[in-house]
Amino acid sequence: MIIIEQPKELARLANDLTQRGVTIGLVPTMGALHAGHASLMERARKENDRVILTIFVNPTQFNQKEDLLRYPRTPKEDLALAQSLGVDVVFMPQNPEDMYPDEYRYQVTEHSFSHLLCGAYRPGHFTGVLTIVLKLFMLSRCQRAYFGEKDYQQLELIRGMVDAFFLPVTIVACPTVREHSGLALSSRNSRLSEEGRRKAALLYQKLRVPHGVEQIRKELENSGFQVDYVTELKGRRFVAAWIEGVRLIDNIPWPDATQEKG
Ligand code: PAJ
Repeated sequence: MIIIEQPKELARLANDLTQRGVTIGLVPTMGALHAGHASLMERARKENDRVILTIFVNPTQFNQKEDLLRYPRTPKEDLALAQSLGVDVVFMPQNPEDMYPDEYRYQVTEHSFSHLLCGAYRPGHFTGVLTIVLKLFMLSRCQRAYFGEKDYQQLELIRGMVDAFFLPVTIVACPTVREHSGLALSSRNSRLSEEGRRKAALLYQKLRVPHGVEQIRKELENSGFQVDYVTELKGRRFVAAWIEGVRLIDNIPWPDATQEKG
């Protein structure tokens, strides 16, 4: 497994592979890897000659400094997991400036869906995500890139960017990996106490009951959550809520949901 820190070095390697007709699958992450990330790497391993994993806590997608500072970092464990899953290349830039040689001047912004759901509560978040993902696509020269349905709005916006800019990348959507309780795996779960983690499972459990979204919001608030939204949109139900100072999100298919209701 090769570990690369410099964007130029990754570009050189990817160009070389591409010229030899080797297919590349990209798995972009911010590290603190768990079984959800592993499912993406496993799928990429099956479908490509080479798998490139990226680990970069991208500062421009954090709209709160505190969240960026507290974001979990476990590089040693991440590298061991990547190695065990047969990842070929890990790209982990150490200085954010290396990924932004333009000094943060150029950005990719979407002007519609990115303002709903999480976008309404995290200004600039999706601009940060789309911009870094475009950079990672260009550097890695990937044919396929793997994203989780856990971050469904992110997945949709990345698909939209690929269509809008005719990017030669196939986006592969991977199902949400959950704990037994139903709690969606997330790097941020590690910041929860045992009690908080038990409560966090309510997010998924409540999403699945056939109550209206307002009722679900009340029930979550009564259980101690601070709720950003519970909404039905585009055939899915979405929730974002805070517990113990940690913001968690989840979503499930919800066939009745054609319009925004909550
Ligand atoms: P991160 O939160 O580390 O997630 C990396 C990828 O893993 C995303 O595609 C996410 O949807 C997926 N993922 C996370 N939890 C999952 C779960 N429980 N089941 C299945 N997939 C899961 O998302 C980001 O990083 C960043 O925004 C990034 C795209 C890397 C850009 O910085």
